[in-house]
Amino acid sequence: MNLKKEISFGIAILLFVLFAFAYFNFRFGLEVRTLDNTINNSEMSGGSFKANRKEFASGEISKHNSKEDCWLIIDGSVYNVTEFIDIHPGGAEKLIALCGQDASLGFETKDGIGSHSQRAKQELATMKIGDLKN
Ligand code: HEM
Repeated sequence: MNLKKEISFGIAILLFVLFAFAYFNFRFGLEVRTLDNTINNSEMSGGSFKANRKEFASGEISKHNSKEDCWLIIDGSVYNVTEFIDIHPGGAEKLIALCGQDASLGFETKDGIGSHSQRAKQELATMKIGDLKN
């Protein structure tokens, strides 16, 4: 009887340690990944990180040229618009045709019919991942 109790107690402790390990591993791993992303998309400036200052060469940007992986250059900035393609009010095709390329003129003129709204410009800013390397 006592032995049974001891075994149950031992198993309970083992399970607790396992769960605690799994939990902290998940939490810690998540934090490291988040920090990694922040550092990848940043540069040091005066002792602190400045977000979104990563620079990409045009050769690298042109590799992201499909609906599943779509980057655009607009006015010297680089945007990952992959998630936005299907919800673009002007249609997915307009963006798909420009994936991996400079879309400044298309964005500026809505392909010749006028200019994008302030809301569109704000939405664009949320997708910035860096700048075009000169
Ligand atoms: C990722 C960048 C872009 C964003 C965030 C964006 C966002 C939007 C938004 C919010 C609208 C609704 C109207 C407005 O608010 O102005 C719109 C409409 C439109 N967009 Fe874009 N757009 C982008 C890129 C482009 C590009 C590169 C083109 C053309 C090559 C384009 C062509 C159009 C057209 C033709 C409409 C008009 C739809 C209509 O009024 O019937 N857009 N876009």
